[in-house]
Amino acid sequence: MIEFEIRHKDLMGRIGRLRTPHGSIETPTIMPVVNPNLMTIGAEAMKKFGAEMLITNAYIIYRKPDLRAEALNKGLHALLGSELPVMTDSGSYQLSEYEDVEVSNWEILEFQQRIGSDICVPLDIPTPPRAERERARTDLEETMQRMCEARGIISHNLLAGVVQGSTFVDLREESATRLAEIGFDVYAIGGVVPLLESYTFAQLVDIIMASKMHLPLNAPVHLFGAGHPMIFPLAVALGCDLFDSAAYALYAKGKRYITSDGTKKVEDLLYLPCSCPVCSSFSVNELKESVDLLASHNLWVTFEEMRIVKQSIVERSLWELCDRRCRAYPALLDALKQMTKYSAWIEHYDAVTKHTFFYLGESSAQRPEVLRYANRLNRFTISGKVLLTTIPLSHGKVSAEQEQFDHLFFVKPPFGPCPLGLEESYPVGQSEIPVAVDDEAKTVALQNVIKLMELKSTSTVNFVFLYDRGWEGHPLLDEIRTYAEVRKAE
Ligand code: GUN
Ligand code: ZN
Repeated sequence: MIEFEIRHKDLMGRIGRLRTPHGSIETPTIMPVVNPNLMTIGAEAMKKFGAEMLITNAYIIYRKPDLRAEALNKGLHALLGSELPVMTDSGSYQLSEYEDVEVSNWEILEFQQRIGSDICVPLDIPTPPRAERERARTDLEETMQRMCEARGIISHNLLAGVVQGSTFVDLREESATRLAEIGFDVYAIGGVVPLLESYTFAQLVDIIMASKMHLPLNAPVHLFGAGHPMIFPLAVALGCDLFDSAAYALYAKGKRYITSDGTKKVEDLLYLPCSCPVCSSFSVNELKESVDLLASHNLWVTFEEMRIVKQSIVERSLWELCDRRCRAYPALLDALKQMTKYSAWIEHYDAVTKHTFFYLGESSAQRPEVLRYANRLNRFTISGKVLLTTIPLSHGKVSAEQEQFDHLFFVKPPFGPCPLGLEESYPVGQSEIPVAVDDEAKTVALQNVIKLMELKSTSTVNFVFLYDRGWEGHPLLDEIRTYAEVRKAE
């Protein structure tokens, strides 16, 4: 039986279906954290926001005798009062925060299994970012031993394997590789909460990518502790499928109002910039007074953003969404830039055709589509007289002068040489760029012109490069002169 089926893809993001013992769920999705000690918003009530699955902490249930007895007698779902699928965390987070966890890996896994968890999590050891390497290595070895042990214990429920390794990319890679060899139903990326809290998003990109590159692509990946919607577009674009949110409740407790591009102090609000059922029925003052109302608003916007992400996967416009959202904070912009460093890898898995390519600033010049185009320049067969021109066709017609050439290429930022025949094809022929095109787009275009000339430069080819005023003074023109006769348009 296939547990995880992928339906739509864009970048490394996907819409998938995951089967659990309590039914199928659609990913990417966010699992609200429900705490059986203080359920202000009940488990069943989570459905109305769009929750398809919940997450709770097995250790919190285990250490309280009455909750433990009830869970063992009636099962986890009856305890929470919901038949939604439930993932249970093991207490690792308590271990990393308070270091007083008095339960073994074996005990907590047996317990998760007995109470009927849909996805069980072993007691991994979250090593904080920038730890000493020796500590990260020791923690990782212990975590891996527990993962092996877990695989031998859990048979009927789904089991998550947790990637650790602090901020050491090679340890993350090794961790992911070893987990993939053991084989899990779900893979989780752990130990990143401090990076999320400190807005160290570029490093988070490296960690997700190091893990994803070595995990099976047909398995769901959970990013532990990422509950703020501003990170969803980026994390989904990098291939994360599951998220957990305690953020909705923690932020509400701290009187914070979540939006898709950040967090506001509720005391600073004069207006409610949201139309969720809470914000359209209550006043700012009522929200200021009520943690529950704030928590509800936070859930509404969290699920709304996930639906936006999903729709953009279907439309294949996830890049554009990331581009927009990552402009909310400098640290998110750093993360977007960091993502472009992995364009070659992402290009491998990205859909080949999409809707119109929108150029939205310099990070668009590093998009996977642009890299793919550069990698395919060697497919052109050319000989004789070749014109590369920055001047577009006039009235859709080839001029008498242009007709004298055997091949005609239009130089289109950021792609570079586009032959007449590809004018209608994705991406180069179906791109929209601003009239005021930036230097980055021109530079990448000229780099690709040079690349084509390098690839195709033989004694039977004569290149002419014709440019207009907008390109004057570009430093790469000199390099083009070594391959082509360079002319400036009148
Ligand atoms: N919750 C937040 N981070 C982690 C982690 O690294 N491991 C587990 N098991 N739970 C978490
Ligand atoms: Zn609202």
